[in-house]
Amino acid sequence: MENNIEPLAKEIEKLYEAPVSSAQAKKIFSRFLALLNSGEIRAAEQINGTWQVHQWVKKGILLGFRLGVIKEIHSASPFPFFDKETFPLKNISRRDGVRIVPGGTSIRSGSFIAPGVVIMPPAYINVGAYIGKNTLVDSHVLVGSCAQIGERVHLSAGVQIGGVLEPAGALPVIVEDDVLIGGNCGVYEGTIIRKRAVIGSGVIFTASTPMYDCVNDTIIKKDSRGVLVVPENAVVVAGTRKINTAFGSRYGLGMYTPLIIKYRDAKTDARTALEELLR
Ligand SMILES: CC(C)(COP(=O)(O)OP(=O)(O)OC[C@H]1O[C@@H](n2cnc3c(N)ncnc32)[C@H](O)[C@@H]1OP(=O)(O)O)[C@@H](O)C(=O)NCCC(=O)NCCS
Repeated sequence: MENNIEPLAKEIEKLYEAPVSSAQAKKIFSRFLALLNSGEIRAAEQINGTWQVHQWVKKGILLGFRLGVIKEIHSASPFPFFDKETFPLKNISRRDGVRIVPGGTSIRSGSFIAPGVVIMPPAYINVGAYIGKNTLVDSHVLVGSCAQIGERVHLSAGVQIGGVLEPAGALPVIVEDDVLIGGNCGVYEGTIIRKRAVIGSGVIFTASTPMYDCVNDTIIKKDSRGVLVVPENAVVVAGTRKINTAFGSRYGLGMYTPLIIKYRDAKTDARTALEELLR
């Protein structure tokens, strides 16, 4: 975090603790929102290879909900919208170099979208989200609050990336560069997906989901911070495992589990290559 951000962080922490709303507080919040929009502040960032979460950023966002009153949000359509005045839709112009295909996409102010990002409708990008260069956000994708998505990531149709606001989660989901997440996956509760991992369609990750690494014969569980970390280059598919209790055996029960079936190879690269012409 830049040094000049520190005083703002302190002001936000102070306002978060004080249950009052004032014009001055709204001014500070606007500054905070502008810096989230420009990507100068993030809910989490990688420092010397380690992801550090800035809890004050989540507090700043929660503060915005307390400071805002609900008012009518003007849109081009005759259908009215009502939301907290502190979180209008993001102000995007041609100069941002982003393509937003028309039809039902919303991007909340306080999110950062890098140039070259393509967003297919309908998609919802919540406050605090950060999306790196040339990432594709396909139809029906949710990028939850404070989620950090890297560069050249492919979020396939129907992918749900959980947020930290509700239900309250301490840690944002982090997806590093060049990851492909297949259709209908769900990534929740602070999961970190390391660089170049490939997640087969329909995989769900939560902090409580153990992942079976069939290449290295290990079980990967949440770490000491409560975070499930998907290793670099892992190819993960949706699997099952037996429930070995007497009851489970009697009825042939199993439960869902993510499996690392291999680590990325030339074949995976060919299957997951991004189509430059679409960009
Ligand atoms: C993961 C994926 C990319 C395949 O990667 P790959 O490197 O080509 O994998 P391989 O074909 O070498 O498969 C390795 C093994 O895993 C199995 N496997 C592969 N994908 C699987 C899947 N999604 N579910 C279950 N098993 C799968 C294969 O059968 C193979 O097993 P085997 O060796 O016993 O035959 C692909 O399955 C996938 O899910 N792609 C995403 C599709 C998608 O959602 N597109 C978005 C469009 S909007």
